[in-house]
Amino acid sequence: MKLEQKIKSRKATLGVIGLGYVGLPLVAEFGKAGFRVIGVDIDARKVEQLKRGRSYVKDVPAREVAALVRTGQFLPTTDFSQLRKCDTVDICVPTPLRKTKDPDVSFIVAATEQVRKYLHRGMLVVLESTTYPGTTDELVLPELEAGGLKVGRDFYLAFSPERVDPGNERFTTKNIPKVVGGVTRACTRVATLLYRQTLSRVVGVSSTRVAEMVKLLENTFRSVNIGLVNEMALMCDRMGMDVWEVIDAAATKPFGFMPFYPGPGLGGHCIPIDPFYLSWKVRETGFEARFIELAGQVNGQMPHYAVDKVVLALNQIRRSLKGSRVLVVGVAYKADIDDVRESPALDILELLRRRGAKVAYHDPFVPSIRLDGGRLRSIRLTPAALRRFHCAVVVTAHKGVDYDLILRRTPTVVDTRNAYRGRRAAHLFKF
Ligand SMILES: NC(=O)c1ccc[n+]([C@@H]2O[C@H](COP(=O)([O-])OP(=O)(O)OC[C@H]3O[C@@H](n4cnc5c(N)ncnc54)[C@H](O)[C@@H]3O)[C@@H](O)[C@H]2O)c1
Repeated sequence: MKLEQKIKSRKATLGVIGLGYVGLPLVAEFGKAGFRVIGVDIDARKVEQLKRGRSYVKDVPAREVAALVRTGQFLPTTDFSQLRKCDTVDICVPTPLRKTKDPDVSFIVAATEQVRKYLHRGMLVVLESTTYPGTTDELVLPELEAGGLKVGRDFYLAFSPERVDPGNERFTTKNIPKVVGGVTRACTRVATLLYRQTLSRVVGVSSTRVAEMVKLLENTFRSVNIGLVNEMALMCDRMGMDVWEVIDAAATKPFGFMPFYPGPGLGGHCIPIDPFYLSWKVRETGFEARFIELAGQVNGQMPHYAVDKVVLALNQIRRSLKGSRVLVVGVAYKADIDDVRESPALDILELLRRRGAKVAYHDPFVPSIRLDGGRLRSIRLTPAALRRFHCAVVVTAHKGVDYDLILRRTPTVVDTRNAYRGRRAAHLFKF
């Protein structure tokens, strides 16, 4: 049976490589649409959890995983040879930066090498990891064709960026439109058909490079606008204005303005990282991506600004940072999720500690974190616990945290997230 018929009749077996924040929700969507899914990950602990019907991704309920595993519709495994049985493979592996801010595509390379071993006629391979324009053409394609099969004729290859927003209940893997660009027209057609079986809207583009660039435009747009509004916050601070009031009023303009909000720095696996994939790649052409670099500089300074605010707050109660006890409230990189990757809270904790503060944190979503100096556990927010601190700094504003209690019981509070919207108090210091 041809791949397209297999997809339409739900007889295709779908493979997903990398079962993280991106891969696992995709497995769940494919599974719910009635496909058999084989999920491969190198992390044996994750695979073991999935086999037991547990979920480590908040947006994918354990009962969904359990139901799919129980019926044999989802097979989590560390065994790449299972890819032999797959008609399609989605690659959802990490794409971090090296310390030098150069792209680290080693995970894509490793996953592609595995796919090559089990590539067969009629197979569709889709790269979903965010990466620089050219990766699919220059890195993945030659590796896959090295076995003798020809793209567009013997197998299909496409790039389709993932746009999932963890913790967002309104927009999920299912209803976020999916952009797809194939190496050939046939590749785009087959990949589009696959996603149409389960996702609400699929948008085809002319090439893999365009699809790769789409994702980088989206994330660079976020990074640059956040950089702009962070600079606005620094300017408002100097000039004695409340930046939040300025933004709220500007946002009443019904066209030509979109509100972005300042914060203690960028976090997560995407916005602080992806734009540098683009600026690195475009350098090959002798072009310097100035907006990207500038936004990186401004956003990178924000954790320092947060620490300066703590120093200022402590100053008011005649204390130096050295020796003071500082509580960081919220360490996830954004509200209502448990992900601490690239979180500015980690930088802030490190900066405070290096300057002699005694630090602790509270986060209802993150029970413990690892810092240079060892492991920290989230403390409970009780009046007695709060009384021990000289300053609390709100870095992530999760729902359900008792901000009133923090303000009542702590001598000084720094708010980087407008958790105390509209509130004024002599011991409250806002961005
Ligand atoms: N997290 C997000 O919000 C988000 C949103 C859009 C796009 N992305 C992009 O999607 C990609 C994946 O991100 P993520 O957040 O899901 O990462 P993740 O770290 O949560 O998951 C990646 C998974 O891949 C596994 N893995 C690593 N190398 C592997 C290999 N060679 N073979 C098999 N499995 C392997 C890891 O063990 C991990 O479970 C990245 O390129 C990221 O930039 C992420």
